[in-house]
Amino acid sequence: MSWIHSVFVLFLILRWCITGESSPVVTNDSGAPMEKTEREALYSAIQGFVGDSWNGSDLYPDPCGWTPIQGVSCDLHDDLWYVTDLTLGLVHENSLSCNASLKIKPELFELKHLKSLTFFNCFTSPTTISKEDWINLGSNLESLEFRSNPGLIGELPETIGSLTKLKSLVVLENGFNGKLPTNLCGLSSLKRLVLAGNLFTGTIPNCFNGFKELLILDLSRNSLSGTLPLSIGEMVSLLKLDLSNNRLEGKLPRELGFLKNLTLLDLRNNRISGGLSKNVENIRSLTDLVLSGNPMCNSSDDVMVKMKWENMGNLVNLDLSKMGLRGEIPFGLTKLKRLRFLGLNDNDLTGTVPSKELETLPCLGALYINGNNLTGELRFSRKFYEKMGTRFKASKNPNLCMYESQEYVTPLGLKPCKMMMKGNLVIKQTWSNLKKEESSSSMGVMVTRHVLSNGFMWDLLLELSLIVLLLN
Ligand SMILES: *[C@@H]1O[C@H](CO)[C@@H](O)[C@H](O)[C@H]1NC(C)=O
Ligand SMILES: *[C@@H]1O[C@H](CO)[C@@H](O)[C@H](O)[C@H]1NC(C)=O
Ligand SMILES: *[C@@H]1O[C@H](CO)[C@@H](O)[C@H](O)[C@H]1NC(C)=O
Ligand SMILES: *[C@@H]1O[C@H](CO)[C@@H](O)[C@H](O)[C@H]1NC(C)=O
Ligand SMILES: *[C@@H]1O[C@H](CO)[C@@H](O)[C@H](O)[C@H]1NC(C)=O
Ligand SMILES: *[C@@H]1O[C@H](CO)[C@@H](O)[C@H](O)[C@H]1NC(C)=O
Repeated sequence: MSWIHSVFVLFLILRWCITGESSPVVTNDSGAPMEKTEREALYSAIQGFVGDSWNGSDLYPDPCGWTPIQGVSCDLHDDLWYVTDLTLGLVHENSLSCNASLKIKPELFELKHLKSLTFFNCFTSPTTISKEDWINLGSNLESLEFRSNPGLIGELPETIGSLTKLKSLVVLENGFNGKLPTNLCGLSSLKRLVLAGNLFTGTIPNCFNGFKELLILDLSRNSLSGTLPLSIGEMVSLLKLDLSNNRLEGKLPRELGFLKNLTLLDLRNNRISGGLSKNVENIRSLTDLVLSGNPMCNSSDDVMVKMKWENMGNLVNLDLSKMGLRGEIPFGLTKLKRLRFLGLNDNDLTGTVPSKELETLPCLGALYINGNNLTGELRFSRKFYEKMGTRFKASKNPNLCMYESQEYVTPLGLKPCKMMMKGNLVIKQTWSNLKKEESSSSMGVMVTRHVLSNGFMWDLLLELSLIVLLLN
């Protein structure tokens, strides 16, 4: 091994002699050949983050060779080693943890072969990132990540928009605020753009037409406002679109339906209104559709309920809670064989629950229909309730009831549908929202006659004990 190295070093020396190159190369019999400036820049950059007491040349004399630094990777270019990946911050136990009073040294931007630069759990005290310098990394940087740095504040430097080789820009859970720099749109090689969990405000720039290769767009958990730009429909490759937990408003653009490869659409907790345009139901690839917490059904037409849900046969997670949904539970939902999660809670749904059909969905593992105005009785089997456990909720439906025998097995917060056979007559009792019409006493039994709002008459017996007496 070492003789190979020696030959290699000899070869390099010979080459410099022959070509007369005067590169300031540090050679070492047992180390990886590296430009002195590159090595010094690496030490200095890291020292800025870790603290002055960290002495790189002492601890790691051969950073691309036999004394690797945790979080640093190197690669060969023209027979010399250069730093290509740098991760600063507590990723692993023995990684380079950042000093509370860190400095971003200019030497960081001399590492021009960097392909990947990550700051994780690094900035804790308030720091702004200056605009300058980033351009220096433009020729190679493919991945830039700021993750979980609560100390990073101020605006995202717009010079990041000059890193045109970027394939992945992740700015996740930091303290950045201000508007999204519009020149981000120039990053046409991006496959992943994540700006989630910051304090960004303002509107989403209408310039997504450049993002033909983007697969993931996540702007969730900010304070972005305004409407969704129309150009969103031009990101033809998009797989995941997460704009949840912002203040977006207005109607969804029809153009959303152009995203034929989309698998996730998460718009929860915004102020989006005006329903879902028909061509969203044509995105057959969708597996996750989360629209909860938007006043989407505040108009009089029940677009959402009338949608052909059965067309979206790949749906696995469907959350339509807290949207003001009106009308009956769309029957098309019972055709979605892959459904695992169905959230319909806290709407204004009426009518009966298609229990039998929902129970046949083979994968269903969570069903929330609580907080509506559903009526009639639940006809799920006991096995179903046992399978679902707390992942089934139906409470807060004043006119919904369940079999008495099941009430004890599954405390769902529902009233029992008291049933008894009296001759051939089935007498049912539903409890609230019934108009009390008259009450009479006969044979010592309180018989109350109630009329449902739809005019259907029920005889209701309030005292179960007396009913039992009657039968005897
Ligand atoms: C070469 O490596 C040795 C360790 O084997 C180290 O002591 C020495 O300082 C290195 N020389 C140079 C020029 O870096
Ligand atoms: C943090 O940086 C300061 C100043 O450079 C230094 O005195 C201190 O030792 C550093 N802390 C650690 C844990 O290295
Ligand atoms: C690191 O230590 C060496 C001696 O071990 C010393 O010459 C050098 O100045 C130190 N560098 C820093 C930046 O403290
Ligand atoms: C959509 O996905 C298919 C199958 O994965 C792929 O062949 C096609 O290129 C994708 N379309 C776009 C525009 O990326
Ligand atoms: C629905 O909400 C939008 C936006 O909040 C509003 O402009 C519109 O008037 C509302 N429509 C109805 C019928 O309430
Ligand atoms: C629930 O639905 C009934 C009709 O089934 C209706 O009379 C009642 O007003 C509704 N309650 C609420 C809170 O919407």
